[in-house]
Parts: sequence; C-alpha cells; structure tokens
Amino acid sequence: MTPLCLMEDVRKTFRMGDDAVEVLKGIDLEIIPGEFAAIMGTSGSGKSTLMNLIGCLDVPTSGRYLLAGREVLGLQDDDLSVLRNAHIGFVFQSFYLLPYATVLENVLLPTLYRESAMDHTEERAVELLRLIGLEARMHFRPNRLSGGEQQRVAICRAMMNDPELLLADEPTGQLDSKTAAEIMNLLAKMNERGKTVIVVTHDPAIAASAKRIIRIKDGVIVDEQAG
Ligand SMILES: Nc1ncnc2c1ncn2[C@@H]1O[C@H](COP(=O)(O)OP(=O)(O)O)[C@@H](O)[C@H]1O
Ligand SMILES: [Mg+2]
Repeated sequence: MTPLCLMEDVRKTFRMGDDAVEVLKGIDLEIIPGEFAAIMGTSGSGKSTLMNLIGCLDVPTSGRYLLAGREVLGLQDDDLSVLRNAHIGFVFQSFYLLPYATVLENVLLPTLYRESAMDHTEERAVELLRLIGLEARMHFRPNRLSGGEQQRVAICRAMMNDPELLLADEPTGQLDSKTAAEIMNLLAKMNERGKTVIVVTHDPAIAASAKRIIRIKDGVIVDEQAG
C-alpha cells in the first residue's frame, strides 16, 4: 500500500541568532492509510516539531517527506496550504474555537477556505455534530460548553473537509482523565470511519488507545510498538 506519509532522514534545525539547534535528527517514518498512531515522548523531545512537519505547517531542513505521494520539500506556502486543506485536519491542545461564532459556525470554518464548494456543507456539519452528541448545542457560543465538549467541536471542525489524515497534538492536555478518555474514544471512532489518525502525547495512558506507539527522544525515534 502507498504510504500516506513517508519520511526519510528528516532533519529540522531552528536558527536562534547565531546558533543552530537541530531538533529532529534523522526521522524515518512511514504511516499507511488507516493507521491510528501515537507519537510519545517527554516535553521538548520534538513531538510538535515532527507533527508540524507531518501536517505541512512547516518543512524539513533536509531529508525527504512525501505526503500522499507528493514531495513536500521545496513547495511554496501556497502549494503547502492547498496540500494541507486537501488532506489534513488539525486538533490542538487549546481548542482554538472562535469565541464569537456559534458551534455550527466554528465547524463550518474550514469550508470557507475551500476553492471548490462542497455539496450539502451545512447538513454535513450538523451530521458531524449529531455524531458527537452536540447537535442540540449547535447555536451556542463555545464558552457555554465544557472543555471536553469544545474539543469535540474542534474534532468536528477538523473532520469538515473530510481529510484522510487527522492530526492531534496533545488533544487531551487540558482535560481531566475521564474526559481525555472520551476524546480518545472519539478519535478511535474517526479511525474506524476510515481516517488515519496520529496523536501526540506525553501520557502513556493516552498513547495506549492507539494501535501503534512511536517513541521519540531528543529528536530521534527510539522505539516502536503495537498499542
Ligand atoms: N520555532 C522554534 N525555534 C527554536 N526552537 C524551537 C522552535 N520550535 C521548537 N523548538 C525547540 O525544539 C525542541 C522541541 O520542541 P517541540 O517540538 O515543541 O517539543 P515537544 O512538542 O515534544 O514538547 C525544544 O527544545 C524547543 O525549544
Ligand atoms: Mg508539543
């Protein structure tokens, strides 16, 4: 099967004044369609940097990265954002919902940037909200929802463009353990519906929900196991 993500000897160096800090030091990674993977490591190990590369929010300093068969290195910002919009949905630790928009408007947000209109856009949004049990709150502002509910709305928003790949960077970092487990169940449900899911976490209990656990330490992958 063609990998959805293929990284070969990917490195990422950040410049800080005169210093160059190598944060990713040769990552080889293959993600095939349908996987549910967790990237685990301590704070500062390079998880978010790796996730940003996987999601084309940033590009490697060197190495190869193919997303859905396309070489990412060398693409300009515009082409990167087209690639992102076509393939990837993002979920972050801070939910980043717009406070003055309703739940439904928040879920509809990604569709505003699409070049081609999708059919039945609003129906799809309502259907997603029904799937996560928040249909009755769709006209609420986000601040009337709990943290877990807000994260579920953010997952709906990430699903709106029907991405092949769902990326979640510490999605449960602000949630208590029971709510965190619900969020992981929801991501598992999206995986069952055919999405490839990659979750970043420093929490072994969270990583255990995934089918594959990739451990990163000081910018290198040190270990892999089935979840
Ligand atoms: N834009 C940046 N500029 C300089 N250093 C950065 C930048 N982004 C991340 N780093 C550094 O890279 C290391 C890894 O960061 P990060 O990928 O955010 O780790 P994690 O998500 O595992 O906590 C940290 O030492 C961090 O300070
Ligand atoms: Mg991080």
